[in-house]
Amino acid sequence: MKISCFSTHPFDREYLEKASVGTDIVWDFLETGLNPKTAILAAGSDAVCCFVNDKPNREALVALSSVGVRGLALRSAGYNHVDLAACKELGLRVARVPAYSPHAVAEHAIALLLTLNRKLHKAYNRVREGNFALHGLMGFDLNGKTVGVVGTGKIGSIVAKILRAFGCHVLANDPLPTQKDLEYVDLPTLLRASRVVTLHPPLTPDSHHLIDREAFEMMPSGAILVNTSRGALVDTNAAIDSLKSGRLGGLAIDVYEEEENLFFRDLSDTIIQDDVFARLLSFPNVLISGHQAFFTEEALTAIAKITVENLMCLVEDRPLGANEVRFET
Ligand code: NAI
Repeated sequence: MKISCFSTHPFDREYLEKASVGTDIVWDFLETGLNPKTAILAAGSDAVCCFVNDKPNREALVALSSVGVRGLALRSAGYNHVDLAACKELGLRVARVPAYSPHAVAEHAIALLLTLNRKLHKAYNRVREGNFALHGLMGFDLNGKTVGVVGTGKIGSIVAKILRAFGCHVLANDPLPTQKDLEYVDLPTLLRASRVVTLHPPLTPDSHHLIDREAFEMMPSGAILVNTSRGALVDTNAAIDSLKSGRLGGLAIDVYEEEENLFFRDLSDTIIQDDVFARLLSFPNVLISGHQAFFTEEALTAIAKITVENLMCLVEDRPLGANEVRFET
């Protein structure tokens, strides 16, 4: 079977090739992302494999379907970027990797929080320049602080567990409060009480701009917001205004609303055209990583293994179980 793999980075190729040894998969690794213009490149493929910043919108899906593609295997858990109504109409099945290593993302969220709070990003540079002064590096103890975890699924529940080991008082918010040992409250209560808020829900129409202007005003002055989930959970312009006024004490993000034009590529020789992103970079209390929370050996191994299994099921018309993205009826 032939598979077109869009948005391929060297690490994708390495892990997917390893995971598909012994199968009849013939890969067509493409560096370009999937969009209406590039979909035609999948001509002759049974299925395509794509990532979070690809654009499987209606136009691209129609093009894929017209060249004989039967399904999409996402190398991600999130599927907010896929036009599912169009997939349903076109009879394209969609597979995802619901869980690969929730620990990878949870640990990265904690790494961002600790780095921003204890200013390790600044300390690293200072020490290398022989500057051992401590001014500007003060943080606060996490022990004893109230931390709000929004979304307590696979990732959020691990984050909550780690935070409790630090001695934090964890408040949780989730429309499906499944974790018996967590204290669930409504979102305004969580925002008003928490020194740190960390976001772990999926991006859906309901959670778009979950943290908006009103939400920033509810948070205590000096609070830190961590987002490793999806950029559009946060209204970035509202975050910038809150940072400028000094109300938001810190922002640590691994995801950004308009990241598809920036992340996963080396733009170090170019001028960043996104003024909102450039403004974010200018704050001393903003820490950004480029969607790398998933990027561990364990996660890549699991993503590749499950993606290969999903592709075999898609092409051989076998059930995908929990990995099938179901269409709303
Ligand atoms: P999950 O499905 O196990 O958990 C999501 C939880 O969020 C569920 O308990 C759900 O009820 C809850 N939820 C849904 N809507 C909500 C809302 N409006 N407010 C509060 N909670 C809400 O998903 P998992 O595996 O924990 O992943 C969460 C998200 O993390 C993914 O959807 C994805 O966007 C993001 N992610 C980011 C990665 C990165 O590299 N930065 C890698 C993997 C996932």
